[in-house]
Amino acid sequence: MRIGILGSGSGSNMQAILDAIEDGSLDAEIALVLSDNPDAFILDRAKQHDIPTALIDCRGFKTKFPDEAQTETAAALKDAEVDLVCLAGFMRLVKQPLLDAFPQRILNIHPSLLPAYPGLNAWKQALDDGATEAGCTVHHVDAGMDTGPTILQAKVPVLPGDSAASLHARIQVEEHRIYPEAIRIVTGVAS
Ligand code: GRF
Repeated sequence: MRIGILGSGSGSNMQAILDAIEDGSLDAEIALVLSDNPDAFILDRAKQHDIPTALIDCRGFKTKFPDEAQTETAAALKDAEVDLVCLAGFMRLVKQPLLDAFPQRILNIHPSLLPAYPGLNAWKQALDDGATEAGCTVHHVDAGMDTGPTILQAKVPVLPGDSAASLHARIQVEEHRIYPEAIRIVTGVAS
């Protein structure tokens, strides 16, 4: 199974998927890593592992993922013979051109127990809201923001004295565990 990854940031979730591949618990290959951010560390991580990378050209658009860029992204993923697309810290909203190219085959990881706290800085939303429980969700991607059917969730406690950073770090430990597991569930591919 060939995975394509879209990310805008550090790429720790991509690393977790890679670790699962390398320890033999996920029979897959990361075929291509795409980013809208030329400075994203996810690109460095990919290069360190000799994974092909490319930039998604969203110049002129701060947050939007223009149709043309989505079509180009879909073409790049198809050229790389990708079976499954994993969004891993990708900060733009995927829409029809790309969704249609990979029906039921685009996953996202979100740092909350969806449907609670969609959108940006979900862990901070939980903290500001006085939640006692937080977590993360892997879900199928549809045209909404962090909507789409849930595949797997994991909970973590919100502890007294938590900062946004400490809570996010606790959530990320669970993200790194459930993302490879969700890929196994969706594709039926174990080791
Ligand atoms: C994660 O918290 C993920 O849930 C959210 O963005 C963050 C990406 O982290 N969508 P990383 O780039 O995988 O380290």
